[in-house]
Amino acid sequence: METKVAIIKDINTDIRFIEEAGKVIRNGGTVAFPTETVYGLGANALDDEAVKKIFIAKGRPQDNPLIIHVSTKEISGLVKDVPEVAQKIIDKFWPGPLTVILEKKDIIPNVTSANLNTIGIRMPNSEIALKLIELAERPIAAPSANISGRPSPTEVERCVEDLNGRVDYIIGGESSDIGVESTIVDCTVNPPLVLRPGGITLEMLKEINPEIELDKALKSKPNDDFKPKAPGMKYKHYAPNAHLKIIKGKNEKTIEIINEIVENYIEKGNDVAILTTNENLNKFNNGKVISLGSENDLKEIAKNLFEALRKCDDLGVQYILCQGFEENGVGLAIMNRLNKAAGYDILRSE
Ligand code: TXA
Ligand code: MG
Repeated sequence: METKVAIIKDINTDIRFIEEAGKVIRNGGTVAFPTETVYGLGANALDDEAVKKIFIAKGRPQDNPLIIHVSTKEISGLVKDVPEVAQKIIDKFWPGPLTVILEKKDIIPNVTSANLNTIGIRMPNSEIALKLIELAERPIAAPSANISGRPSPTEVERCVEDLNGRVDYIIGGESSDIGVESTIVDCTVNPPLVLRPGGITLEMLKEINPEIELDKALKSKPNDDFKPKAPGMKYKHYAPNAHLKIIKGKNEKTIEIINEIVENYIEKGNDVAILTTNENLNKFNNGKVISLGSENDLKEIAKNLFEALRKCDDLGVQYILCQGFEENGVGLAIMNRLNKAAGYDILRSE
């Protein structure tokens, strides 16, 4: 399949590309596009044949439902009911990096919802994404625009790397500002539950309702007794080709341990990358050191995380060592993605 790649420099002068991509969606094709969280791979959410193409292009398991992207807060055509707390969340955080789970109407095909009677919906805070949905004149189902299991793309080049030849159209534009996927809040239960942490933090949600909590499955490594309610959370995810290990604890001890492990790997003839902060950049003796950003700015670290994992693969290293972060605010989303990318290989440094 031939993939057209168009980069939007100015949304007004380049509007024809978004019009073209909107037409591709209307005709049952697939389009990768930027959002503020990560790039998405979209198709007409109401057309099961179109949605099947997303699963094929990504190699995605069919029991993993998709998030529907809308360009308005008015969603009564898609869901049975919007409970009061869900409405408050929508009013406060849309457009933005937040997905609500609600009971779906029959207009949503089972392929999109992976046979669940609920769906995830969000209104992205990206000019290009909103314009595309508007011009497609349909809601767009879109998972992240990566081959299943790989780190989600936050730059158009990474969509091209994974999906060129597998989708009809790729729109590039801004790089994704949030860098981790949307927070998912299950609003079919009361109080609502956070199924996946993201850019909208638990602390921010508690301002709407202090009873909103994290799904229990987020607090431990998934196992047979604890099935996450977001089906996608059970899969190995976000993983670079290199083996990733997290070292978490007091800073000085963490650095000491990373230095020891690096020596050990290098002695055995392996290449190693280290993911760390600006503040720690000069504290390592060996290895290819990459900064994720300042330790005082977890948002910056989230924004750079997936791209850094992919850069490590570009460097061709066999191992990546990453320091851990505090699990407050966006730190919770960062550690959730890191844990999964590392297959829960965490070493406590104290
Ligand atoms: O930020 C985002 O949400 C990005 C951009 C493209 O919008 N999309 C994204 O999609 O992360 P994806 O497919 O990579 O992740 C969707 C997650 C999966 O873990 C899936 O299991 C969960 O949402 N999900 C979707 N519908 C659900 C439902 N009805 N109930 C529970 N979880 C659901
Ligand atoms: Mg994904």
